[in-house]
Amino acid sequence: MSIEQDRERDQVFFVNFSRTLGGLAIMMVLFLVGALYIARKNAPAHEPLARLEERTAPVGQLRVEEEKTSAAVVSEEGEAAAAPVEVAEVSAMSGADVYGKVCIACHGGAIPGIPAIGDVADWAPRIQQGREVLYSHAIDGYEDGASGLPMPPRGGNDALSDEEVKVAVDYMLSKVGG
Ligand code: HEC
Repeated sequence: MSIEQDRERDQVFFVNFSRTLGGLAIMMVLFLVGALYIARKNAPAHEPLARLEERTAPVGQLRVEEEKTSAAVVSEEGEAAAAPVEVAEVSAMSGADVYGKVCIACHGGAIPGIPAIGDVADWAPRIQQGREVLYSHAIDGYEDGASGLPMPPRGGNDALSDEEVKVAVDYMLSKVGG
């Protein structure tokens, strides 16, 4: 092997080695920049989040507990969903309850002209109007009936839901075979 050839091989080696070192240096810089970028991106995002959680924790926990409680009540009662509306329905009164608390005052049989509970003759012509009319007269009230007396909306108790008034009507009708 001549000195010329030796030198050539050294040169080739030198060029290749320099390129490899250069490549490694570039990669190192890229990694460094990448690492700095990721570190910057993550660090500030985590800290305020932790502080935010710390500050909001008590309020959040309280609300979650409440929701769980009402949801538990709902599922215990066998209702479909956990929405607050359903919770209200769980506590809804039965037809007998509503009648006994509200409607009985006028429909208990003491006031002449007002259809009395259990009185088939009183109710027969009214049942012929159809249940929907009776429902809407009970919910919305009306004044132009045969007795000349007003049937107040929801029997005068605005707190009753449509459903509660309806089951009260159902209850009264059930007492006259309707
Ligand atoms: C303040 C007295 C009063 C109360 C309380 C009352 N009603 Fe009446 N209701 C009447 C009168 C009076 C009539 C009859 C009106 C007429 O047809 O002349 C009547 C009629 C009705 C009728 C028949 C409607 C029709 O079309 O014939 C239904 C059903 C009825 N009430 C449901 C209820 C229900 C349910 C409640 C309780 C949530 C209730 N009422 C509470 C006074 C009352």
